[in-house]
Amino acid sequence: MSEQDILLKIEHLSKYYSGVKALDDVSFAVRRGEVHAICGENGAGKSTLIKILTGAIEPTRGQFKFAGKIYEKITPPQAIEAGIRVIYQEFTLIPYLSVAENVFYGQELMKGIVIDSKEINRMTSRMCRELGIDMNPRTKAESLGVAHQQIVEILKAISQSAKLFIMDEPTAPLTMNETKIFFGVVEKLKAEGATIIFISHRLEEIFEICDSVTVFCDGKCVVTKDIAELDKKSLISYMVGRDLDENYPKPGVAPGEEILRVDNVTGNGLKNVKFSLRRGEILGFGGLVGAGRTELAKVIFGADAADRCDMMFKGKPYAPKSPADALAFGIGLIPEDRKAQGLVMEMSIRQNITIGVLKKISRGIFIDGGMEDRYTDKYMSSLKINTPSAGAPVKYLSGGNQQKVVLAKMLATNCDVLIFDEPTRGIDVGAKQEIYHLMRELADEGKAIMMISSEMPELVGLSDRIVVMSGGQSVAELQREEYSQELILGHASSKLSAEV
Ligand SMILES: Nc1ncnc2c1ncn2[C@@H]1O[C@H](COP(=O)(O)OP(=O)(O)OP(=O)(O)O)[C@@H](O)[C@H]1O
Ligand SMILES: [Mg+2]
Repeated sequence: MSEQDILLKIEHLSKYYSGVKALDDVSFAVRRGEVHAICGENGAGKSTLIKILTGAIEPTRGQFKFAGKIYEKITPPQAIEAGIRVIYQEFTLIPYLSVAENVFYGQELMKGIVIDSKEINRMTSRMCRELGIDMNPRTKAESLGVAHQQIVEILKAISQSAKLFIMDEPTAPLTMNETKIFFGVVEKLKAEGATIIFISHRLEEIFEICDSVTVFCDGKCVVTKDIAELDKKSLISYMVGRDLDENYPKPGVAPGEEILRVDNVTGNGLKNVKFSLRRGEILGFGGLVGAGRTELAKVIFGADAADRCDMMFKGKPYAPKSPADALAFGIGLIPEDRKAQGLVMEMSIRQNITIGVLKKISRGIFIDGGMEDRYTDKYMSSLKINTPSAGAPVKYLSGGNQQKVVLAKMLATNCDVLIFDEPTRGIDVGAKQEIYHLMRELADEGKAIMMISSEMPELVGLSDRIVVMSGGQSVAELQREEYSQELILGHASSKLSAEV
């Protein structure tokens, strides 16, 4: 590889926080025009590297060379000037502005008293055409789906002459179809000669669109290889340092008595939803985005009200007025949007995990420190939450480790029914297996689990039965022998055409 071929060369970069080597003497190179993946478990240091490259944080040691220039550190404006752009997962678009206005926001054409709408619309349309995207430049950002919002971020980066596009888990919030659209744009970008750094915990995606991959483990760079030299198994073993058993845990018990019966749930986007949940089983919920699965979960958890709702819990009528009410009955929800709903960022990991069980771990008005530690230790080790101290604020944890804290918090409440909404989003391959085993153990202990998942392999691999939802209705119930991706997708789209 000649120097000319290289766009970015990382040289001995380190970032130390007290007690944590987030990045430890990392060196590797990214070639011009390639899609270069960075893989590694939660907390491996991927986002830390990105933050250094974009100027959000300064490295402790080391340097990087970008487009021929050496940087010991960089400020955010310098990074943009140099052509380094991140496609953020938390969106920075202005909701009430149009697509075109967002793309050119802050640039010359959008400055001054008169905005040249015609010109920005024309230029945005041209970019969309070149990337094969069907999008009206006049559409307001707030009415776009998540995938298209990210595509606007890409257009924005292109309009600012980006040389390096950094994508940190861009597909985590996307559905299968949205990912397809997004990858179409990535392929086009690549064909135009763009260089891309791509981070994802979905390994199939790495093999689908990346040319090479660098693996991080505990802040260190383990290896850089062309994707053609690797298969999934060898990639995983570089990431986790061992082979992984990728089989889904099988049930140890037969399903027991019915614990929750849902009949006739209507309202909150739902129509006549019905199903029954038994102890000892994992009931999967399949469907496309907008099928009403999260809405259903919220009604059962008392977070949203339905117009009509006949539910029985342990044989008695159940009508929760609030989440606190649902928890008191013994029904818990691990929400999809964990950052917004699940955690208090400023509080420690320990406080977040035990917040729902304060009564249990208190003597009088005082918290029993020993019990608090036992609760915390149990879940930190079973979920492998990667941090030197349970006293650290959760805001300092990596994305995936924050998600594990939300899981721990709900598991500590010891509910009889647990609703998992996309339980492994943003979670690394090794920890995914841990979570599957944990869910199966909970079911084997006699708890009942509802699992909403858009990851087809996990839905099919772990569920004992699957309810498919479409257009706010429960349209099918499948037994294990009947599972197939085609069948699930067929049912999932059955009410769509009828509704439109
Ligand atoms: N401000 C901080 N103070 C202390 N530790 C920090 C801080 N920011 C990050 N860390 C630690 O640095 C390590 C690397 O975190 P990073 O966010 O880079 O991981 P990641 O590879 O992106 O993980 P994920 O896949 O979960 O997103 C983690 O152990 C994290 O707890
Ligand atoms: Mg990260």
